[in-house]
Amino acid sequence: MSEARWRTWQRLGELEEAYLEIAAVQAAQEVGLFERIGAAPATLPALAADLTCDQRGLGVLVDLLTAMGLLDKDGDRIRFSPGGAAFLDPASESYYGDTLRRVTLSAEALGRLGAAVRTGEPLGQTVDVPDTGALWAQDVAPVLATWREQRAAAQRLWETLAVPVPAGGTVVDLGCGSGFPAFGVPGSPTFISVDWHPAVLEVTTAVAARLGIADRVRPIAADLRRLELPPSSVDLVHAAAVLYFYPFEEIDRLLARAADWLRPGGYLVSRHLLADAERASATEALRRAVQLFLFHPGSHVPTTDELTAAASNAGLTDVRTVDGQYLIARKPTS
Ligand SMILES: C[S@@+](CC[C@H](N)C(=O)[O-])C[C@H]1O[C@@H](n2cnc3c(N)ncnc32)[C@H](O)[C@@H]1O
Repeated sequence: MSEARWRTWQRLGELEEAYLEIAAVQAAQEVGLFERIGAAPATLPALAADLTCDQRGLGVLVDLLTAMGLLDKDGDRIRFSPGGAAFLDPASESYYGDTLRRVTLSAEALGRLGAAVRTGEPLGQTVDVPDTGALWAQDVAPVLATWREQRAAAQRLWETLAVPVPAGGTVVDLGCGSGFPAFGVPGSPTFISVDWHPAVLEVTTAVAARLGIADRVRPIAADLRRLELPPSSVDLVHAAAVLYFYPFEEIDRLLARAADWLRPGGYLVSRHLLADAERASATEALRRAVQLFLFHPGSHVPTTDELTAAASNAGLTDVRTVDGQYLIARKPTS
């Protein structure tokens, strides 16, 4: 077998293995295993009786979930691993199970991709639907369990990006989510943290409190596409993992407005999965484009060239990219 064919064969095998692990999480959610273990650890016979499951079936499921690091075995009792408890116990403040069940590992939603491709009609679940607020909050809540790691990563990030923000300056964080990574900006700036959903901003506020910077964070519940700020009033506009929800014309318009908000010499930093020019090799970006297509009508994962052109059209200069996903641009001083 040629090397290329062997690699493809291995890749297909990896897909099959991954699918089994995904199916195990889906099955555990379907039979209520995580809720039950969250309530109290229990033996396999007790779990099978409580969940009205076949003991052998539940046993093979528990074994795999344990090997995946989601559950632990304590003698004959089955309980969550520490990580499993943080993200899969519905009682945890950093619970992520709802997002897995309803979006990222939803067999029902993902199974409709073929139909969506055929018709061009996504599932229609957009950020404009108010009741997705709770879901978005679930999406960012895991940061509450990982905030120390997130803080360290955010601090390293801004060292790498080397974007100067004057001490005590103002940062606008569009679609702030948890507040990271903007909260890593050095120089004790004030943050205007903008997110559509008040439920998400509750997580942002909780993160800010843990970081001890709540007095420097001004949460604003607003649609970033309609946000009004005074011209030349901010030092940094940050937009991470948010612009791709929207059609490219909206990104173009938004960058023009962001340029207006910036003080001369201020910076725009966008983190955005960027497609390669041929749309053929940037796997992470292309994967996300499929997910966004399924859930968000009008979403667009741009290429580096497209986003660079949008920044230039907005009158920003010194446009550069870092790590293939950060786009940095500056408002001219004159
Ligand atoms: C994928 S998260 C990214 C969060 C954060 N920027 C980060 O990098 O971790 C996208 C966030 O953008 C918010 N969002 C999406 N569309 C928005 C809009 N039109 N106005 C305000 N916030 C929006 C969502 O509520 C969500 O919290």
